[in-house]
Amino acid sequence: MNDFIRVASTQEVPDPGKTLVEVDGDMVALFHVDGHFYAIDDVCTHDGGPLADGELREYTIACPRHGAKFDIRSGAALTMPAVRPTRAHHVKVEDESVWVQLSEGISTGVSESYSSNPSSEPPPQQPSPTPAPSNDSASSSVSTSSQLSEDVIREMLKEVKDPELFVNIVDLGLIYSASHEPVSGDSGKQKVLIDMTMTSPACPAGPQMISDAKRVLGNHPDVEEVEVRIVMDPPWSPDKMTEDARDQLGIF
Ligand code: FES
Repeated sequence: MNDFIRVASTQEVPDPGKTLVEVDGDMVALFHVDGHFYAIDDVCTHDGGPLADGELREYTIACPRHGAKFDIRSGAALTMPAVRPTRAHHVKVEDESVWVQLSEGISTGVSESYSSNPSSEPPPQQPSPTPAPSNDSASSSVSTSSQLSEDVIREMLKEVKDPELFVNIVDLGLIYSASHEPVSGDSGKQKVLIDMTMTSPACPAGPQMISDAKRVLGNHPDVEEVEVRIVMDPPWSPDKMTEDARDQLGIF
């Protein structure tokens, strides 16, 4: 088990306020809100954004990179594009000093906090949002007998879902372009070209989504080959999502 490390005096962090501290070599965002101290990793789980640089509102910190919000009490990811919690750490206040003990692993949504004001009870934790189930009607299945076109390709790609968000990759705004061209020879078959992005460069779901896209498009009788190019410029941002995707993720 890790030791508690003194990271600041209680007067060093205004209420409300935040600061960045180092604990055993890890960078930790320390928050002081309503008489209580909280500590979470200074790492946004979307793409590593520095959370201590974000905007603090009550018990929510917004990542300065793409706007994902986290609950400072539990580390829970509250909004897209982050879907995984960041690690929350144990905090105690003794003799007007703030002490932090690093958690061993990824937070499960419970952060112990100690009040600088013993008379006040810690506020209740906010539940971590659960992605809404996929709206199947939004994932239309196009007939494979439809003549190949960009619209048909995009409709077919709606069958491919991000395995973490359960929203199809078209409505997420991951498909930057879709086209097709004849393959060489006189087979009449087509090669489909897809420019696709990811919500972050290190997206772990990328290989699966690429494989699923190739499999789905390969079902069309006119398609002989599918090439999926990954492009990160321009980078994906939540405003690329359709209204359907926002509805499914509970973003308004
Ligand atoms: S790095 Fe934090 S929202 Fe993208």
